[in-house]
Amino acid sequence: MTFTPSPFLEPGDRTKAGSLAIVSLAREDFGALLLEESSGAVDGYAEGATLNTRFGSFPHSTLLDIPWGSQVRASAVDTGSRGRKRRLETTDEDTPAASQDENGKTPAKKATVASSGFIYILRPSPELWTSSLPHRTQVVYTPDYSYILQRIRARPGTRIIEAGAGSGSFSHASARAVYNGYPKDETDTKGKVFSFEFNEDRFHKMTEEIKSHFLTGIVQIQHRDVYRDGFMVDGKSPNATAVFLDLPAPWKALQHLSRRSGTSPLDPTQSVHICTFSPCIEQVSKTVNELRTLGWTDVDMVEISHRRLNVTRERVGVNLPNERGNSQTPADVLEAVTKLRKVNQQNKQFQKAQTAQHNRNVAEPTAMDVDSSAAASEATLASDSKDKLAGDDGPEKPWMQGRLTHRSESDLKTHTSYLVFAVLPPEWSEEDEEKALAKWPCGQESKVIGNVDKQSRKQEKRELLASRTKKRKAKSEPLDAQGKKCKTENDTQAEPESMPATN
Ligand SMILES: C[S@@+](CC[C@H](N)C(=O)[O-])C[C@H]1O[C@@H](n2cnc3c(N)ncnc32)[C@H](O)[C@@H]1O
Repeated sequence: MTFTPSPFLEPGDRTKAGSLAIVSLAREDFGALLLEESSGAVDGYAEGATLNTRFGSFPHSTLLDIPWGSQVRASAVDTGSRGRKRRLETTDEDTPAASQDENGKTPAKKATVASSGFIYILRPSPELWTSSLPHRTQVVYTPDYSYILQRIRARPGTRIIEAGAGSGSFSHASARAVYNGYPKDETDTKGKVFSFEFNEDRFHKMTEEIKSHFLTGIVQIQHRDVYRDGFMVDGKSPNATAVFLDLPAPWKALQHLSRRSGTSPLDPTQSVHICTFSPCIEQVSKTVNELRTLGWTDVDMVEISHRRLNVTRERVGVNLPNERGNSQTPADVLEAVTKLRKVNQQNKQFQKAQTAQHNRNVAEPTAMDVDSSAAASEATLASDSKDKLAGDDGPEKPWMQGRLTHRSESDLKTHTSYLVFAVLPPEWSEEDEEKALAKWPCGQESKVIGNVDKQSRKQEKRELLASRTKKRKAKSEPLDAQGKKCKTENDTQAEPESMPATN
């Protein structure tokens, strides 16, 4: 078995023909595009297959073999036969081709850059696919699936059961989470998503998508009513350790997720983690009851409430440029007073200059005629100095740094549901019991509390304490040169009392 690597898993450095790409038109506005290589005019476009957006036209030839993340300028496209087709209401085949190659095709024309418009071309990721996929159903969004995948312990090599597949949003995210290489043959067990879909139309669409995204070795989709027919695949167990149920009645499918040998789709050797996704609390209640009845443990429910906060620095100050986001009010009393002083000073200087000018005019009435340019320049100087002072802000003040503020951004698309989690431990067999007994013998312990009576325990304790005291004493008594114990100062002082008097 050989598999072409999926652009979701191993995208390489550059875009290539036949691969999926995500086109970013604006923030939060993405589109999915299957890149094509054209050798002639396509759909009336002389440049070959062309993507048309509100930011202009982009022939695929301008999007091919460029690094992911590139910005691509729009092209001025030649609508050739397409334009005529519209006017004449004829089909493309009716349009006479200008000049054809040996295959009967018009070679694709080289694209020329348009005066405006651009897009970014991004490598596909489950997050971008979720934002751009064609919706056939409600889908699981990124904030939910990232949490779910972590809770059900999806990691490279995990085998996940998913039902229903719906629009494939969760399938793509889980495929990336479990991917640890493509299987080399039938016996090569790798991380895999076993997806089940009841609706025939959606099943076919999903099959096509999985194929065109080169995920065939990683995602296996089955057309199945899982309430009735369970989760076995071609009569074999998927050996799953993780389960995700996004179904209208998940409790109806739980009976097929037992550990009965022969019909169990679960890995018998490991704990299985499950998550069910339900919008109503009544559905949650039914699911929890059924999980408890069937022996699932650690049952709990979570609701994800995703909010995105836009954090900005509030810039407050009378001297700030008049820009968006700046508040031109004094940041504090000190700034208000400083500003007021400046304004007063400017006014005074201006009035002084005006008075001086007036006095000169009165004293020398012909001055204006004699030297009008000098008078004018003085007046200009006075008003200039006023402007200069008004704009003289000095170095940036600490209050210019402002406070941090936040506001919620328009909410990320998400459809709120309750997530129920639970764990099904492995079955405990006779064999396991024996192995555990051999490792930790039970009932043959010689020294456990309860095996010895109270008196004996007390005696044991006394002996233990006595031996400890003896050891401690032995350590504290110093030895003489021959290795005998020396008498301590206390011993020496005690001696005369016991000795009889000599005189
Ligand atoms: C909400 S959609 C799943 C969306 C999907 N999780 C996603 O992220 O795109 C639920 C899907 O479950 C399918 N479904 C409903 N009952 C089913 C059943 N008994 N067996 C299999 N699929 C079923 C529906 O056809 C539908 O496509």
